[in-house]
Parts: sequence; C-alpha cells; structure tokens
Amino acid sequence: MARTILLLVAVVLVAYYIYVPLPGDIEEPWKLLLETTTLKIIMDLFSFTELLGINHLMDSVQFLMRFQEVPATSDENVTVTETTFDGVPVRIYMPKRKSEALRRGLFFIHGGGWCLGSAATVNYDLLTRQTADRLDAVVVSTNYGLAPKYHFPHQFEDVYSALRWFLQENILERYGVDPRRVGVSGDSAGGNLAAAVTQQVIQDPDVKTKLKVQALVYPALQALDLKLPSYQEGSNFPFLSPSLMVRLWSEYFSTDRTLEKAMLLNQHVPMEFSHLFQFVNWSSLLPERYKTGHFYESPTPGSSELAKKYPGFLDVKACPLLANDNTLSHLPLTYIITCQYDVLRDDGLMYVRRLQNVGVHVTHHHFEDGFHGAFTLHRFKIADKMQNQYLSWLMKNL
Ligand SMILES: *[C@@H]1O[C@H](CO)[C@@H](O)[C@H](O)[C@H]1NC(C)=O
Ligand SMILES: *[C@@H]1O[C@H](CO)[C@@H](O)[C@H](O)[C@H]1NC(C)=O
Repeated sequence: MARTILLLVAVVLVAYYIYVPLPGDIEEPWKLLLETTTLKIIMDLFSFTELLGINHLMDSVQFLMRFQEVPATSDENVTVTETTFDGVPVRIYMPKRKSEALRRGLFFIHGGGWCLGSAATVNYDLLTRQTADRLDAVVVSTNYGLAPKYHFPHQFEDVYSALRWFLQENILERYGVDPRRVGVSGDSAGGNLAAAVTQQVIQDPDVKTKLKVQALVYPALQALDLKLPSYQEGSNFPFLSPSLMVRLWSEYFSTDRTLEKAMLLNQHVPMEFSHLFQFVNWSSLLPERYKTGHFYESPTPGSSELAKKYPGFLDVKACPLLANDNTLSHLPLTYIITCQYDVLRDDGLMYVRRLQNVGVHVTHHHFEDGFHGAFTLHRFKIADKMQNQYLSWLMKNL
C-alpha cells in the first residue's frame, strides 16, 4: 500500500514537471522538453533553498554553471588565449590560417541575465570559436562582473572599458584587426549590453574607431513596461518566463526584492518619468499582428522613492530603447534576431521599428519557431538555423 502511494506521488510529481505545454510549431519538442524540465527542477530546487535563506538563487545557479566552463584551449583552426582589457578579463579567438589582409574584429558579450554565464561557458566558447573560424575574424569574448555581487552600472562599465580598450588603434593592430571592420554583438543580456555600449561609443569623443555593425540576438532593451504583449503571452515560453525575466531585471539594479515586487505589478516607474513611456509604447511601436488581442494601458505610476534608490532602471545605459531619435539615428548598420516564443520579442520588435523610423539600416530576422536561448542550444536544429543566418549576415556586412 505504502509503495503504491509512493509510486503515485512520484508519477504525479514527474507529470507536473514534464507538463510544460510547448507552443505547437517548435521543432524537436521532446528533446527541448528534457532541457526545459531539467532547468525547471533546478530553478525550483534553488528557489526553495533561497526561501530557506541558504543561498541567493542566482549564486546557486551560477555555481552550477561554473561546471559548464571549459578552459581556453586552441584547436586546429583557432588559437584561444585569455588576457585582460583595461582590467576586464577577456577570451580571444584568433584564426590560425594565414591572412594577407587585416581581419574583421567582433566584440562579443555573453548573455545570462546580468547574473549568469561567462565567456568560458561551453555554449559561448563553441559559438565564439566557430564565429572566429567561419568569419575569419578575431573574436573578443568579454567577461563582466555579475549580479548579485555587482549591480548596474558595473556590468555596463566593465564591458565598455574592455570595448574601448579593444578599439584603440595600437590594440587593433596588435591583433591584426582592420579598424574599418569592427562590430559588436551579444545575445539576451549580452544583446542589451551590446546595444548600450554601441550607443555610448558613437557619443564618445575619445573613441576614434567607428563600429561597422551591431548584431543583437533577442536583446533585452527596456525595463519600463514589463507587461508588453510578449510578457503577457509568455507564461509557457521555454526557458525564460516573464517572472524570471522580471527577477533578472530587478537583480541588475538591486538585490532588494521590493523592486522586483513593484516590477511584477508593472508599478515601478514614478509619474515624473511617465514621459519616457513614449519610447516603449507598444501600441505605437509594434506591428499590428502583435497587438491583436491586447489592450494598451500605460503602466501604473510607482513610488518616487524606489526610483531615487535605484535610478538605473530609468537609465538609457540599462534600457537602450530610452535613447532619443537623434542618438539612434547615428547607430551603425544593425542586425536583430527576434523569436516568436520569447518574452523579449517585443523589445526587439520595438527597437527595429525605432531604428527604421530614423533611417538606420536594419536587417531583422524573426524566427517563427524560435524561443529564448535557442541561439546557443548547439545540439538543436533551430540553433544551426539561427547561427547560419547570423554568420552569413556578418560575412556580408562586417
Ligand atoms: C577546422 O577547419 C576544417 C576546414 O574548414 C574543418 O573541417 C574542421 O572541422 C575544423 N576543426 C574544428 C575543430 O572546428
Ligand atoms: C501610446 O500610443 C498610443 C497609440 O499611438 C497613444 O494613443 C497613447 O497616448 C500612447 N501612450 C503613451 C503613454 O505614450
């Protein structure tokens, strides 16, 4: 009898975990279900240990991610080294084949919600290694201080310092990089940082090298309205739920959970900043298709105190969508990937629209069967598809 009950409980528990309804047209659903279920179990377990006061959720996950790091190992095609750029640790991938001319340079920023991952994480090591090989490019994959130990603007400043260092003429020369062919790229939180540093570089009189391109893969671009249609639709999207995204945004600015609570209610922007909503107004910036079934309400005004304590979430360096049209109009050639089943989908779609409105050339690839994290899910067909498009765009435009 006891064994039957135990078995029943086990079956119910397993069924609960396995039951993540995936959107219909996602490829390789069973393989994906295994990944999402594993993550769900890990997140639930670590959320529980956090609730018990044992360890911060993101510290636990990052501890686990350290086991997925690989050393800087060269292979037959690419030399991999580690160094620091202005004190920031970076990993550099140099193609081994001989080159008569100077090479392309790509400055890459990994994702992980400003809390997780590194240039050494196996998925990123593989991506940046293949990028260097296939593009015949020098790829600099930068690290940066992570939350909860470090908060905004630390992440931004680490990345910006490393980029500025790389863009110096003598440094580009040392690595054999053509100063006319340098680009910035990143995915997710890395896409956020890529967009933010690109805006900063074009306004920095000390930086003489001009960026040729920016390539943003499902970037996070604003923390003002956390109830966009993609957030409202996203409760069953793989890997990144709306509530996890809100947690990650709030962790970028503070470990104080009152910010997260206000953000979950979409009640964190005080009245005196409501003029900023025009920059993230999905009602005017999203294509018709994505507005269907949604009714626009501007977020409820929040307390001024929260914004005084954590002004970061209103800062353009954290939320590149807050840049004015004049700044945006000076941005370089832009590539943006968005995915249908991604809470950050509408951030990307709105940036595409705002850049196009001011005449920036944008190539936008939207993956109808895509989801957050797919770009670096190397054993999946969707990752190949996305990486191939990304690399062929860079091949033509960088
Ligand atoms: C090195 O390049 C060759 C030729 O493109 C390729 O066949 C091989 O798989 C590459 N090796 C690695 C480790 O990527
Ligand atoms: C958002 O856009 C809609 C439609 O263009 C407009 O009616 C509304 O006033 C805008 N709201 C804000 C806060 O900008």
